[in-house]
Amino acid sequence: MSKRPIEPFRIKVTEPISLLPKKEREKKIEEAGFNVFKLRAEDIFIDFLTDSGTGALSQYQMAALMIGDESYAGGRNWYHFEETIKDIFQKKFVIPCHQGRVAENIFFSTVLKRGDYVPNNTHFDTTRANTMHKGGIPVDLPCSELDDDSSDFPFKGNMDTVGLQELIDKVGPKKIPVVVMTMTNNSVGGQPVSMENISEVRRICDQYNIPLVFDAARFAENAYFIKKHEPEFQNRSVKLIAQQVCAMADGIMMSAKKDGLANMGGFLAVNDEQLSVKLKELLILIEGFPTYGGLSGRDLETIAVGLKEGLDEDYLAYRVGQIEYFGAILRDAGLPIVTPTGGHAVFADAGKLLPHIETQQFPGQSLAIEIYRRGGIRAVELGSLMFGGVDPNTGEKLKPKRELVRMAVPRRMYTCSHFEYVADIISEIVKDKDKLRGYEIVHEPRYLRHFTCTMQELIENPAGTLST
Ligand code: F0G
Repeated sequence: MSKRPIEPFRIKVTEPISLLPKKEREKKIEEAGFNVFKLRAEDIFIDFLTDSGTGALSQYQMAALMIGDESYAGGRNWYHFEETIKDIFQKKFVIPCHQGRVAENIFFSTVLKRGDYVPNNTHFDTTRANTMHKGGIPVDLPCSELDDDSSDFPFKGNMDTVGLQELIDKVGPKKIPVVVMTMTNNSVGGQPVSMENISEVRRICDQYNIPLVFDAARFAENAYFIKKHEPEFQNRSVKLIAQQVCAMADGIMMSAKKDGLANMGGFLAVNDEQLSVKLKELLILIEGFPTYGGLSGRDLETIAVGLKEGLDEDYLAYRVGQIEYFGAILRDAGLPIVTPTGGHAVFADAGKLLPHIETQQFPGQSLAIEIYRRGGIRAVELGSLMFGGVDPNTGEKLKPKRELVRMAVPRRMYTCSHFEYVADIISEIVKDKDKLRGYEIVHEPRYLRHFTCTMQELIENPAGTLST
């Protein structure tokens, strides 16, 4: 029996949730065109769509909202935000923006040329899209242990350093303006990256003078895993580990909606002054003045407080313990999952659960729909439906390795009772798995798979539709 993690907080504010009757859930998902993004959030009982911006604020963050200084320039919250980021991320220049993908857009717009390669342990969708939008070629280099289901290697988020060396040998360092490491590695299972792997990537980058940038959305969870699994760090504080990790990067791209424990926010942080000036020029054009960058003063303050709370070790032990517990009870219920569990989500392997559904008929989506139908639970497909499209640069058909369904857990929001309810629903689905059927796309607006579309197309097609 897995150990139930104990929440290191008590609940001061509550938000009611309720489970619609089964008939209504069936109607809602059909009306939504079997697209979970089109469901109304109030029709969902437990929402695992994302851990991004969906967590609960602490009492200190609530208090921070009240000390927001909404001055246009030089507000006091900016200085707290800047000082906190400089300290944790060990960088000289901080550029605020309203979420992670804007940080990526500003960064890649500034450093990429058409035809450049961008290696990453695995690109998250927005880094991939931003890279491609600037004419760059994203290259995923996950480590080999990732595909070995029998391996309990704790750092399956690592970058394949041999693959990185091969890419450099093949295309030459001049074609690689930056190497990106995503920590934790969201797209493959929220798996962490080890200090050893980061150091090796840094060594290779140094050898060829290639800047190294971290997509650091879940940097605190990653640092906690380093403490837990790399013996030489077990007596070091998570904050010191995070500082040591971040000091190895030339730049940070951050979505503060994850380990910043905030509902909105992001930033870039770099050491190169000239680069920081260029980044700020674009920032002013698309986000705002460099002391707020698309955020209100109260957001900046909430993030400054959240970044510190996100490094609290009792909180992190509970957070990672919660995902481990959730994963273990889902496995006991018969669901194949990506193991070991990572930091923010449990990833179900729908391809393994539903081998009778062809990849073109989206086994992951079939599972996600059934989870809503049976339990009012929302999860997201990360398989052929999400990643299937066509590469706009090469015209090649994209095919993901696995048909995953992610159940991402919002921070400080759900308790073990919620997880146990989900495990009961999953166990019913596992019993009836042979009855599940595939889906086909009957309508798809261009912008879902391609990165350019007209405003008219966006207005006419706010989201795609599936049918059985
Ligand atoms: N990088 C990673 C690793 C992410 O997981 C995300 C967002 C981003 C960048 C972009 O940040 O949303 O603030 O613009 N991930 C969310 C998710 C959406 O559900 O995993 P953003």
